[in-house]
Amino acid sequence: MTETHPKVPTAGVALTAIGVAVIRAKESARPDRLYDDPFARLFVDAARRAYDDVDGGAERWVRLEQVAETFFEGRTVGVRLVDDRVAEAIEQGIRQIVLIGAGLDTRAFRMPLPADVRVFEIDLPELFAFKEPVLAAAQAVPRCERAVLATDLREDWAKLLGECGFRPELPTHWVDEGVLGYLTHEYALHVVTTLTELSAPGSRFGVSRFAVDENARPYTELKRLVRGDEGVDRSRTGLGADARTWLDEHGWRTEFHSWDDMVAAFDRPVALHDPEIGVVVAVREP
Ligand SMILES: C[S@@+](CC[C@H](N)C(=O)[O-])C[C@H]1O[C@@H](n2cnc3c(N)ncnc32)[C@H](O)[C@@H]1O
Repeated sequence: MTETHPKVPTAGVALTAIGVAVIRAKESARPDRLYDDPFARLFVDAARRAYDDVDGGAERWVRLEQVAETFFEGRTVGVRLVDDRVAEAIEQGIRQIVLIGAGLDTRAFRMPLPADVRVFEIDLPELFAFKEPVLAAAQAVPRCERAVLATDLREDWAKLLGECGFRPELPTHWVDEGVLGYLTHEYALHVVTTLTELSAPGSRFGVSRFAVDENARPYTELKRLVRGDEGVDRSRTGLGADARTWLDEHGWRTEFHSWDDMVAAFDRPVALHDPEIGVVVAVREP
């Protein structure tokens, strides 16, 4: 009997979500884990089986695991930092969370969120075509309300969000955990303009400020996996260095938290010794 697998992204940007699941699965297996995501292993196992069924898939899987490994240390601590920010938002009474470029995130299932919290996950249709069957097969039940928006952030997702029950009059905690850098500068601005319009006072958002040489490995290898081996697109991506100024000018109160300060509490080798790298934390002003 032939086993059927959910269709898995083996190329394109949705593949990056599998890489992050590889990272979360590895972290979850550690005795000193910073968080526990039991679904990450399910995604990884399902993806690996599906890659095996695709021409050249086994070789791509090896490359994907290698890239995930090179990003492991910093990225896994980053997941924990976002967990902490989500928990803090809930503690402060926020009940609406939107994950832009949610990928294989399972915070709606794995975090102790109150039942009246609503989590909105936005990502591409091909990502959810893989994610939802894996969650269904595991009979996973979210701890709170969860809405899936299978759409492209370059389109009019605000309308869809409204149709899914999003309430712009309530404060929202927005999570960007690695999607804006995959959008051109214009589209990243479109996303942030949209979420700004949808943000009631007290809403929270964060923008990473980092310094990477995108032409150095492992970034080039990641780009090759995502875009194919034909070359690297050099268009400007993400919000850019002036993100904080943009937020300040558009009704957000911002603070900068350096990466080294944020990670100091964790016993992991991730300090970068660069006070300019970190996160711009933004709260929507009344
Ligand atoms: C690096 S992954 C991060 C996923 C997730 N936030 C996490 O930390 O596991 C980037 C995600 O952005 C999504 N993405 C990229 N471009 C997108 C777009 N135009 N619209 C919606 N989602 C997009 C990808 O499908 C992928 O799931």
